Amino acid sequence: MNIQLIWAQDTNAAIGKDGTLPWHYSEDLKNFKKLTTGHTIIMGRKTWDSLPIKPLPNRKNIVISSTEQTGVDSYNSIDTCMEYLQKNQSLQNIFVIGGMSIYKHFYDYADTLYITFIDKSFDDTDTFFPIDLMQIKNDFKCIEDCDSGDLQFTKWIRK
Ligand SMILES: NC(=O)c1ccc[n+]([C@@H]2O[C@H](COP(=O)([O-])OP(=O)(O)OC[C@H]3O[C@@H](n4cnc5c(N)ncnc54)[C@H](OP(=O)(O)O)[C@@H]3O)[C@@H](O)[C@H]2O)c1
Repeated sequence: MNIQLIWAQDTNAAIGKDGTLPWHYSEDLKNFKKLTTGHTIIMGRKTWDSLPIKPLPNRKNIVISSTEQTGVDSYNSIDTCMEYLQKNQSLQNIFVIGGMSIYKHFYDYADTLYITFIDKSFDDTDTFFPIDLMQIKNDFKCIEDCDSGDLQFTKWIRK
């Protein structure tokens, strides 16, 4: 099983505001679509609620929630979700797409990180990536780094 975390963060490591993204960068959405299409995506219930289109097409969508969610496979714990993934060999390319609590749970299992760094800070953000960048740099090495305007697309693999 290959577990990949994917997220975008601003200069304060903010990832969310009022249940949604604090920004709109179509280039980042295209990158997200390109990387995740055809694969399994796992998200927390609040990220699921925030999606403008549900489920995200051409991907196996999985939601973690204490209550069963309609129209999508949902699991009431990380452990039951992991058991399901381990039993289903066809679902081996897994992208964890947020939010904060879900990234925190899956960080220790992650093989690869896709981080979009946004070279701006946004006001009134309320959700942050839970692992410090210093810790990430200790655990992972950056193997791809591509600048595009305010955005820096990076890929990291575990050391
Ligand atoms: N910048 C980015 O790349 C990015 C990516 C994703 C999300 N976001 C943003 O992040 C924010 C949402 O993130 P969030 O951290 O607030 O919420 P979240 O992680 O998406 O969802 C939290 C919910 O997940 C469920 N959950 C989490 N851990 C669980 C566990 N161990 N067992 C059972 N259920 C569990 C609970 O749902 P129930 O309450 O239903 O039990 C919990 O309330 C939004 O603003 C979103 O736009 C940003």
